[in-house]
Amino acid sequence: MGKYIIQGGKTLSGVLPVSGAKNATLPILACTLIAEGTYFLNNVPALKDVEVMIKLLEHFGLKIEKIAQNSYKIINNGLQTLEAPYELVSIMRASFLVMGPLLAHRGEARVSMPGGCAIGNRPIDIHLKGFEQLGATIKTEHGFISAKAKNLIGKEIYLDFPTVTGTENLIMAAVLSKGITILNNAAREPEVEDLGNFLNKMGAKITGLGTDRIIIEGVEKLFPCEYNIIPDRIEAGTFLILSALTGGNIVIKGVNMEHLTSFKTKLEEIGINFKINGDEVQVQADLNNFKPTNIITLPYPGFPTDLQAQTIVLLAMIKGNSEMKETIFENRFRHVPELNRMGANIKIEGNVASINGPTNFQGAEVEATDLRAGACLVIAGLISSNTTILNNIEHIERGYENLVERLQAIGAEIKKSE
Ligand code: EPZ
Repeated sequence: MGKYIIQGGKTLSGVLPVSGAKNATLPILACTLIAEGTYFLNNVPALKDVEVMIKLLEHFGLKIEKIAQNSYKIINNGLQTLEAPYELVSIMRASFLVMGPLLAHRGEARVSMPGGCAIGNRPIDIHLKGFEQLGATIKTEHGFISAKAKNLIGKEIYLDFPTVTGTENLIMAAVLSKGITILNNAAREPEVEDLGNFLNKMGAKITGLGTDRIIIEGVEKLFPCEYNIIPDRIEAGTFLILSALTGGNIVIKGVNMEHLTSFKTKLEEIGINFKINGDEVQVQADLNNFKPTNIITLPYPGFPTDLQAQTIVLLAMIKGNSEMKETIFENRFRHVPELNRMGANIKIEGNVASINGPTNFQGAEVEATDLRAGACLVIAGLISSNTTILNNIEHIERGYENLVERLQAIGAEIKKSE
């Protein structure tokens, strides 16, 4: 397992470009299973998770060619199989996103059941219930989920929770169905909207994207297209926190601040000001004037759970007591013991972290337990005195493209070692 060696305390300044959104790229890649022809996708981040999804699409028989650093040509000349194997689905849960397009295009799919992960057991009951309501027969056997549907018929569906990938899977299952499907209590995330815009460009008829009521009118056929993926709001938020904690001399480039309204509001409450110039954002922040605050993670447009860990580092730097309540996942505080080993004073009670600051972060040997926990430890290492050794960096490289090179470019002393 690789590690990062981070020498903290350096002044960081310069331009940090934001990559394409991982969580828009994964459903859009899966969606190229839904219709034959040639697709072009741009602003695709170079991530391990993207490589896994591409391997999965090749397993189904698609031909994929990288035509530039972040652009791919995808040729779907028909599927050689309808089964997603354990060895690929077990590496990345988002592989389950192939279920919707396979059902829509071929009326059949057999996908290895996705496992849980460090942050929770990650059920898929809402996905499966939605597929059944659209007319699919679902069978769970030998660790696989088989779905069959002669015809998918549009239906009004209520999602018990606004699940992001659940909403995405059901949109993809419904676009070629007969009739109208309405998803009530649907996820409103920008990444769901990006998938819907991609499908509409292919000839789908989806309205209500970005709201909790998405209406899909089934169409006969879809036509492949060229599409540019939206910027990654979670990566942008991660970098904005890093900038606020290192003097604010970093220009984050390629950000859509419309996708970060709740995050921006909470950081303004703390005393951080944003200078927005088109898609370039800089923060003005004086650590001595930060005020403690309380934050609750919620489905979009609420405060994103994927920025919870990174924001805890910011709260730990503030004099006084702040609270972070995690309402999306049941086990998403695994970074806290690691931060406490670096000098933080954070107590967990149930799904609430009480953070007592300020913290004089000291470098230590720590480990990344999941993607965003890893990102928060990179930030903590960069603001610590002396050296941090961060283990299990595979988690981080799933979601942040060329992170070491981009941080080195703004003056960070960070290097990767095997
Ligand atoms: C997506 O995961 C993201 N992943 C996650 O990002 C993100 O943290 C999460 O949404 C919440 O925003 C991708 O988009 C690939 P959920 P997803 O279904 O769709 C419950 C990252 O760091 N639930 O919205 O799997 C579930 O238990 C990753 O990039 C059900 O009960 O999340 C959880 O408590 C981590 N039944 C809650 O919903 C279901 O059928 C949120 O899960 C589905 C979900």
